[in-house]
Formats: sequence, C-alpha cells, structure tokens
Amino acid sequence: MDKIAEIRQRCMQALAECEKVSLLQELKVRFLGKVGEVTSLLKSIKDLPQEERPSFGAKVNQLRNLLEDAFAQRQQTLSETEIKNKLQKEKVDVSLTAVSPWGALHPVTLIENKISSLLVSMGFEVIAGPEIETDYYNFQALNIPQDHPARDMQDTFYITDSILLRTQTSAMQARLMEKKQPPIKMICPGKVFRSDSDSSHSPVFHQIEGLVVDENITLCDLKGTLEYLAKNLFGKETKVRFRPSYFPFTEPSVEVDLTCSNCGGKGCSLCKGTGWIEVLGAGMVNPAVLENCGIDSEKYTGYAFGWGMDRIAMIKYGIPDIRLFYENDQRFLKQFE
Ligand code: PHE
Repeated sequence: MDKIAEIRQRCMQALAECEKVSLLQELKVRFLGKVGEVTSLLKSIKDLPQEERPSFGAKVNQLRNLLEDAFAQRQQTLSETEIKNKLQKEKVDVSLTAVSPWGALHPVTLIENKISSLLVSMGFEVIAGPEIETDYYNFQALNIPQDHPARDMQDTFYITDSILLRTQTSAMQARLMEKKQPPIKMICPGKVFRSDSDSSHSPVFHQIEGLVVDENITLCDLKGTLEYLAKNLFGKETKVRFRPSYFPFTEPSVEVDLTCSNCGGKGCSLCKGTGWIEVLGAGMVNPAVLENCGIDSEKYTGYAFGWGMDRIAMIKYGIPDIRLFYENDQRFLKQFE
C-alpha cells in the first residue's frame, strides 16, 4: 500500500512538472505502459497472500484510473497552452506600417494607381479583362468590321485569324455592356499591344478605359470628369481642350489635349511650341455599339475614353523615351523609390 501511495505521489509530481506534450507520452509509458510501474504493481499481486489480493488489486486499479485521468487532463492543458503560445508568437501586427526592404512601384503603376483611385472616388468600378482577345471584342463589336480602314490605325499582333493581343482596352466596353445594363460606370486599366516601336511607341503599353452609360449622359459629363482628373494630376491651372476626331466606336469622337504641364501653355520643346499636349481619345459611345451589346440606344447614351498611362507617366516624370519603361534598368527604376 505504501508503494501505491509512493507511485501516485511521484507520478502526480512528474505530471505537474511536465511542460511538453511530447514528454508527456514518455512519462505515460513509464507509469502506465506495458512494463510501466503501475502495470508491474498489478503483476506483483500474485506474490501477495490470497486474502490481501482483492483489496490490493482494487487499489491498484483505482490508481490506474486516477492516473489515466490525470494524464488526459494534463495533455489537454498542455496542448491548449502550446497552441496559445504558438498563436502569440506568430501574431502579426497588421496595423504596423509595412517596411519594404527593396523594390519600388513602376512609374506606370504609380500613374495607374493615381488615376484609378481618383476615378474610384468618383464612383467608377474597376474591372479587368483578357490581354489575349478575340477579333470580335477588340474590333467587330466596336463597329470595326473585318475590312474597315480604321484597323490600320492599330497595327495588330494576330495569334490566329480571329484571336489577337488586344490593341485597346476598349475591347472591355463590349464585354461589359453585353453583360450589364445601364447604369454603367467602369474603368478598365491594363496592358495593350501594337506592333510599333520607337521613342514614343512600345509594342506593349498601358491604357485605362473609362465607360459611362446611363440616361442623359452628355459630352459635358466627359469633359467635367477629364478636367477633374487633369487638375488633380497636373495642377489646378491645367486646362482641357477637345478637338474633333474619329473612332468608329464613338460619335462624336474627340482627341483630348491638356495645357502643357512643362511650360503652362506658353510653348516649349515638350509640347512642340503649341502649349498643348494630346493625352487621350474619347467620345460619346456610338449608338451602333450600344445596340451591338443589347442596350437601348434610344433610352441610353454614354461616353468613353482611353488614356495611355505611359504617355502620362512620361509627361509627369519628364521621361524622354517610352522604351525606358520596359528595359528593367535598375538605375532608371530606382529613381522612383
Ligand atoms: N481605344 C482608343 C485608342 O486606343 C481610345 C478611345 C477609347 C477612343 C474610348 C474613344 C473612346 O486609340
């Protein structure tokens, strides 16, 4: 009986001191395993006088039950604390300012983020679309059939006869209008591709498409939106000018000029002495395009615009050659950190 009490005492103490779930298992084997101390006690019953055996046996069984419970309980407490500690240790303070050890946003991304966030603040929804596009969405749905001369304006990379690298984010106009009835107020930033390369043209560049379709939308809404963007990007003095132009998917179409941010409109080398810089194409969505997409052109009107992000970044940061954006020269990119 003393031995029972002694084992119990020792085991409970060892349990209390055990701080790890993994060590607990060893302890359990030592006391309750096949050749463990409690099991040996049970085996020693046969050495006792007959009359002592039942009560001794009962006591040992009691001890075994008690220890089994104690182990289970300790196991639970330990694993709970281990989880708690782990969570504590791996806790991330999401309110800390992120420290970026290296790298910086690309200048075109900086401009894209800036324009997107201004437009989002005006209630535009941002969508994305495929860079590999069908001839249908890139051209036909936009009122540019197969043999239309306007196709020459955009030197296209064809993958097959009907699949191409999109030449304009305008492709998303048709994709969106097919799915959604007005009111529509979306922008689509993304890469576009044209077979073209010199200091102001790159085979890949970036556009942000804007599209608004609703009742009573006019050219004034377009001008107001662009004026707001231009003033926020280039300063309060910036003026916006519309010149008549032609795109098959807008009618009327305009080229949009901003007063030159370099000389403030007096004329300099950047604006080639004109005081104005052409930045985007825009216009009122051609009713034929609305109808192609299943939108009632008697009831709804809309405007659309397409900005070249690269060009804006070149003007904003005084970059003379568009190809600098795509050469990944660290010395160039580091200036934007
Ligand atoms: N997609 C035209 C281009 O890339 C720009 C544009 C967009 C014009 C929307 C009108 C309306 O040149």
